[in-house]
Amino acid sequence: MTLRLAVPAERENGESRIAATPETVRKYIALGAKVAVETGAGLGASISDEDFRAAGAEVAPLPEVVRGAQIVLGVQAPDPALLAGAADGAWIVAMLDPFARRERVDAYAAAGFEALAMEFMPRITRAQSMDVLSSQSNLSGYKAVIEAANLYGRAFPLMMTAAGTVSAARVFVMGVGVAGLQAIATARRLGAQVSATDVRSATKEQILSLGAKPVFVESVAGIEGEGSGGYATEMSPEYQQAQAELVSAHIAKQDIVITTALIPGRAAPRLVSDAQVASMKPGSVIFDLAVAQGGNVEGALADQVVERHGVKIMGFANTPARLPADASALYARNLYNFLSAFWDKEAGKPVLDTEIGDAVRLTQGGKVVSERLLI
Ligand code: NAI
Repeated sequence: MTLRLAVPAERENGESRIAATPETVRKYIALGAKVAVETGAGLGASISDEDFRAAGAEVAPLPEVVRGAQIVLGVQAPDPALLAGAADGAWIVAMLDPFARRERVDAYAAAGFEALAMEFMPRITRAQSMDVLSSQSNLSGYKAVIEAANLYGRAFPLMMTAAGTVSAARVFVMGVGVAGLQAIATARRLGAQVSATDVRSATKEQILSLGAKPVFVESVAGIEGEGSGGYATEMSPEYQQAQAELVSAHIAKQDIVITTALIPGRAAPRLVSDAQVASMKPGSVIFDLAVAQGGNVEGALADQVVERHGVKIMGFANTPARLPADASALYARNLYNFLSAFWDKEAGKPVLDTEIGDAVRLTQGGKVVSERLLI
């Protein structure tokens, strides 16, 4: 029997991405699947129904689009009520945000679906091309700098003109993971003088290799912040104190601050206090990429420009959705790379191995099975 793969439209506020593109539709069909896309689902990412039809997809409204589907692809967790009619045991493949949206996970279990959380993809070499956090964070890091530059009332590069010299903007990037590295690279391309900090000492080399200056806490116990899977851990009170002092001295001289610090499964660490904001020059801009996870910056509010002490603070609830065409193209490829890597020709469907399957699978056989949700 031919596997049916469904792509319903995203329904969450502000979500403009889509989990498949004409390119990945063609590739799924080449694997032997049928693909159904909900009418209008690609419009936010500038993909028309006609583009999907030309790629070989069936374009249909709900509930037809999910009827009989063995795999449902999403960007965000689809509303379980809209999945009635999908096949027994259907896979729900999306960024399910399982800690915040536990009720949806429970509903998938109750409906007998197998929910696969793409953000739980292990950070191992063979899964790099399936890593949705990386593909989306990279774009977010870029967009944060562009938005900050747009709000900033001055230019980024040094300019020597007949009317006088414009000095280069000073940009400080806090948190040098995937988003932070792209923020550094983007700010450098725009001609800024860039510095950056992280709790993981391995990032020092990466900062230097991008032509930026590392700003690090050096002489404190418990200095290494690298935990499992290359992610950060929560730091000791001594470290946090030393970091706050170092940052206070540095931040007062910055024009733009981009914060990206996250700790998996916890609220984002607070990196910039209101007093530190007050120490910055009026007209400075802070972009808080962690605003949706509680924020790195005191006073930051999602999707708003907050002005404090003459400093503009901003952050988006959903930054990748501001670059919907590229974000969709990369996300859709991540999903295709994942499903195709496990495609079993004889079964005509993907069959996951234990390492990746156990990491991403949240529900199976009517139950929640993910260890990360059971503890
Ligand atoms: P993330 O989004 O979880 O965090 C962003 C950054 O904030 C991290 O660099 C983290 O160390 C930093 N941070 C946390 N607390 C902080 C604090 N108090 N002060 C300053 N910085 C703080 O991280 P992301 O971008 O997901 O990457 C984490 C690591 O995983 C990186 O080493 C990356 O290279 C690695 N990685 C590996 C992959 C693979 O092998 N498949 C794929 C993607 C990333």
